[in-house]
Amino acid sequence: MSERLVEMLSAKDIQTRVKELGAEITQAYKDKPLVLVVVLKGSFIFAADLCRHIDLPLRVDFLGVRSYGEGTETSGVVQITQDLSKPIAGEHVLIVEDIVDTGLTIAHLMDLFRTRGPKSVNVCALLHKPARARVSVKVDYLGFTIEDKFVVGYGLDFAERHRNIPYIGIVERD
Ligand code: IMP
Repeated sequence: MSERLVEMLSAKDIQTRVKELGAEITQAYKDKPLVLVVVLKGSFIFAADLCRHIDLPLRVDFLGVRSYGEGTETSGVVQITQDLSKPIAGEHVLIVEDIVDTGLTIAHLMDLFRTRGPKSVNVCALLHKPARARVSVKVDYLGFTIEDKFVVGYGLDFAERHRNIPYIGIVERD
């Protein structure tokens, strides 16, 4: 079986949108300090680009989450594989996600973080697939709405592959 990648969003389109998102976030928080919570692993490239377009005092923390096995369907169980390095009580938290698919991961993280007493918790996601939503979640800062296709690249993987592709693509098999 041969496999090829079909481009859905170019590296240039992504960069343009990420820059706009950074400006939007800078404007929204004014000079309030922010904690960017980067959801690993898929968001690492998006977050690295995004944070360089946010002109605010901020710190970055990482959260390891697993909801998929080796396949393309969520198991529905969100497992924390690595917790934050510091408390978030009294902080403005912005969760940085690569993609909101069923919404289960974000819904779970919102519930978890609210128990830790932050001043606010908002969500920034590069991609959203509304056709697959199983719970409704509010994405405060969104890059692109996409159709119901499994995508890879720009940090997103299929069984740990393709994270290093600079664009977002669909894997097609013959
Ligand atoms: P959700 O809990 O179903 O919203 O899924 C969120 C997580 O599933 C994302 O952070 C991704 O890691 C992964 N995911 C969902 N859709 C895709 C996709 O199309 N490509 C790669 N990973 C995906």
